[in-house]
Amino acid sequence: MKKPQVFVTRKLTDEVIAMLEAVATVEQWTEDYPIPRELLLTKVEQADAVLTMLTERIDEELLTRAKHLRIVANMAVGYDNIDLAACKKHGVIVTNTPDVLTEATADLAFALLMATGRRVTEANRFLLNGEWTSWSPMLLAGQNVFGTTLGIIGMGRIGEAVARRAKGFGMRIIYHNRSRRHGAEEETGAEWAGLEALLQESDYVLLLTPLTEETRLLMGEKQFGLMKETAVFINVSRGGTVDEAALYNALVEKKIWAAGLDVFQVEPVPLDNPLLRLPNVVALPHIGSATIQTRTEMAKLAAANIALVLKGEEPLTAI
Ligand code: DGY
Repeated sequence: MKKPQVFVTRKLTDEVIAMLEAVATVEQWTEDYPIPRELLLTKVEQADAVLTMLTERIDEELLTRAKHLRIVANMAVGYDNIDLAACKKHGVIVTNTPDVLTEATADLAFALLMATGRRVTEANRFLLNGEWTSWSPMLLAGQNVFGTTLGIIGMGRIGEAVARRAKGFGMRIIYHNRSRRHGAEEETGAEWAGLEALLQESDYVLLLTPLTEETRLLMGEKQFGLMKETAVFINVSRGGTVDEAALYNALVEKKIWAAGLDVFQVEPVPLDNPLLRLPNVVALPHIGSATIQTRTEMAKLAAANIALVLKGEEPLTAI
């Protein structure tokens, strides 16, 4: 019997490819940039499964071409690159990679929070530019982290993991989420708050919501206007949740103090994005889950989902 075919949209480790080769014939796009759309549309025509990144758009056009497709295994917890309704219509299973990236992403969110509040990248540039001429009382003075208030918008697994870290920093934790998270409330003392109250009370506002029609441009002029002038805004969700022009104005007009951004409206962020020129912006290239161990686990989970579906079994993490 002919083996099923899997198309993998980025180069992954031999271990992951071996997991797929145990059940299928595997082809990979091995360049370190996204596969051109036209080529992807050709490649999926013969595929029974695709292992995708968040850089690939899985939509009606692609699904119409992919006549044999049974599963799209996205190597990310977010899946705003995938049209779920179209997948359902075409009978294609979609899986993501939750849990395995929770702690690494929470670490990065907290690292970005600290780097932004304490002006770490600005201080590093200052030193490298030869500007450090003497110790000075208020030189590169930032905002306290310990003992301040953290507001988390989008309290899922990653939010809860950040809250555990924040508890160790003596922070008061408030969160906004559609549903109450009683476990997190008990474990970390986190309190549910309405969005407005959270924005008004927080010293650090951390955005962790998935990108949906409901959360698109969630943070705009009004929301930044509610924040404290000393507050720091951190986005580790998706760039589409933030009105970047409104964020720029809020920073320039000193309505808020600083921003730490791991995600942008357009990625890779164009270097002429004005946010990148502000000294009080810490910008990272979407590395929330980027540890060797976590990315390896994400790839293995995506491969395991494909192997299960191709054997006619239930995947581990269907959406
Ligand atoms: C995700 O998993 O959605 C991240 O943004 C990439 O790791």
